[in-house]
Amino acid sequence: MLLAIETSCDETGVALFSEQGKLLHHLLYSQVAIHSPFGGIVPEIASRKQLEVLMPLIKKLLNETGVSFEKLKGICVTFGPGLIGSLLVGVSLAKALSFVLKIPLIAVDHLQAHLFSIFLEKEISFPYIGLVVSGGHTALFVVNSWEEYLLLGHTRDDAAGEAFDKVAKLLNLSYPGGPIISKIAEKGDKRAINFPRPLLEDNSFDFSFSGLKTSVLNYLKTHSEFKIEDICASFEEAVCEVLVEKSIKAGLKLNIPRLVITGGVASNKRLRELFYEKTEKTNLKVYFPSLSFCTDNAAMVGIVGYFKWKKNIIDGLEKEPYSRAIFKKFSF
Ligand code: KG4
Ligand code: ZN
Repeated sequence: MLLAIETSCDETGVALFSEQGKLLHHLLYSQVAIHSPFGGIVPEIASRKQLEVLMPLIKKLLNETGVSFEKLKGICVTFGPGLIGSLLVGVSLAKALSFVLKIPLIAVDHLQAHLFSIFLEKEISFPYIGLVVSGGHTALFVVNSWEEYLLLGHTRDDAAGEAFDKVAKLLNLSYPGGPIISKIAEKGDKRAINFPRPLLEDNSFDFSFSGLKTSVLNYLKTHSEFKIEDICASFEEAVCEVLVEKSIKAGLKLNIPRLVITGGVASNKRLRELFYEKTEKTNLKVYFPSLSFCTDNAAMVGIVGYFKWKKNIIDGLEKEPYSRAIFKKFSF
């Protein structure tokens, strides 16, 4: 069996896979309630809590599946990108287990884990256009194989999830902002306010969301009366339109008919609806992981780790975690 660990941000995830690559069980310890009063993640609190909960969570996972440490044949763990303190908690424990149990250590990239999370539930043919849209990243890729995923474009400033979180803060809503904005938006008019669609007409596949957040701030400053439902709906529509249009443009331009949308923001109801709506009359097919596999989890780490383990792509104990994303760019 393979053990997978995810601690790149505030969440702590563990998962167990069989040697045939089947997900047997996974658990998540969420810190949302801890960070919510701060309006965002406090890195020091996140890593201290992970230090406390990771080992008990692994023991719970093994207990619930009746598996002993001796049965493990490999440890897969997120090496980056992410918060370095949090990454170090997962990586250090994975290295210790790998050393003590004399089993391979398999380094998994967090973006790669999101991009391939769809394989937990479906087999998708290569190539596909992969969008990772979360609190830390908004990046569009051409995924050619398990080993090759090339960057088409990414955000020049804030990630889409970050924009949701910052706008929620402006509106005095709780953290994380995405789910709450989405809930309030259901009762609003998405055409009420014409917020900008950043870089929509731009020729590149890059994104930019910090100007959109500033537009919401300016709107709040210049209007003494407003309906929060309309602000949420109009803001959400602007974000979703940009994500949908850019992904579709990539699929059509590169003649790749499969779009795979992953990451925390991929759980957004309006985003899913708009993707289905806009691709209805095209030859493009859109795929989303289930909601629990969109936000951070260890199952997606395990699915990539399993592939690497099978191919004997393993790492030594000297490999260090990294906080910044490492991209291989697509050449047009
Ligand atoms: O993938 P994830 O769990 O963590 C990162 O790798 O960043 O994504 C978390 C982000 C947060 O910014 C959160 O506000 C956003 O995903 N999010 C949503 C929704 N659910 C989570 N954004 C919009 N709509 C949602 N329903
Ligand atoms: Zn993530």
